Amino acid sequence: MSRLGKILTYLKNYRRNRDVLRILDEKITFPLLSDYYGICLKYSNDKATTAEQILSQLIIEGHSIEKGMAMKEIRYGFGQKKVKELVSLCNEYLDSYSDNSSRLAYVVGILKEYDDLHVKAGFTLEDTTRQALDSLFAKYPYQFIVPETKETSSERYFENVGASFDRFAVSRHSVRDFTGEPVDEVLMIKAFQLAQQAPSACNRQSVRVYCVYDEALRLRLVELQNHGRGFADKANPLLVITVEMQDWGAGEQWFGGYLDAGIYVMNLLYALHFYRIATIPLNWYADIHGNKQIRKLLSIPESQVPVAFIACGIPLEEFKLVTSLRRDSKETVVFFR
Ligand SMILES: Cc1cc2nc3c(=O)[nH]c(=O)nc-3n(C[C@H](O)[C@H](O)[C@H](O)COP(=O)(O)O)c2cc1C
Repeated sequence: MSRLGKILTYLKNYRRNRDVLRILDEKITFPLLSDYYGICLKYSNDKATTAEQILSQLIIEGHSIEKGMAMKEIRYGFGQKKVKELVSLCNEYLDSYSDNSSRLAYVVGILKEYDDLHVKAGFTLEDTTRQALDSLFAKYPYQFIVPETKETSSERYFENVGASFDRFAVSRHSVRDFTGEPVDEVLMIKAFQLAQQAPSACNRQSVRVYCVYDEALRLRLVELQNHGRGFADKANPLLVITVEMQDWGAGEQWFGGYLDAGIYVMNLLYALHFYRIATIPLNWYADIHGNKQIRKLLSIPESQVPVAFIACGIPLEEFKLVTSLRRDSKETVVFFR
């Protein structure tokens, strides 16, 4: 059909097209564009301009230094470029904002621990790192918070699994030291069964789990995920969590599955902890290409969207836990009384 013919047909069907476009606009395009361009792009922490953006970057980048210090074999001198970037972000915050933020105090504490660790090991940091750290410690006017990297044992880590919920919940942490031995499948099935108690919108239960013991598949998944270096290859099994989109309507509902998946994942983390299985949730922030690869690898149908990984395993007898700072709920909850 000629271009003119197409335009004439479009105009003939204008009424119907207009309705379709209206639905698209009101229910999908507009909310998506306004969420993405109006909020996400405008406020994302890709830039560090506002106080919240700087603090968010500090916590995220500080966490990678925290993790490095909890590694079984510490690579002394690691992360110096990141340490210098953190120092300049801390300075930026101190120069622009006068409040005593717990997140800033925590990151300064991480940097102090990083420094102490190297001094104790007799490792000399680069001059530029040394100067950056010294100037920050001299300038920082408040008490910093010392991060807790706990040396623990498998027995101590699980000692509260039968305790009251408050003690149980506080005792769960991400574990990054697995033996590599497979977790008993019977226990995994018990945990999956318990996690089915997770609430879901209209009881949809749209979350699916791929439980991977196969070594070749696990290693390929770890490679694709790429944020579990140094520990995820020893997780056994590795779980891939997906959402079945056939259980969701189009329009405003479409992202509901991601929320249900988050609730399910937390329930599963607790269920696994209850059965003394060590875990760490891992992100799956993939593009179309990554999703295509993972779908092919695990024969995940096109109707399901992969959203997260969970690495499971048996912890080492003795290991280190990163017990990262939690903000006081006063900082995150708003009451209307
Ligand atoms: C959705 C999600 C994705 C995560 N991805 C990673 C990851 O890729 N690599 C990693 O080492 N930790 C990852 N974590 C673990 C977090 O760093 C950890 O949960 C957080 O620091 C709090 O510590 P905790 O789990 O010990 O309480 C992830 C956690 C969540 C909830």
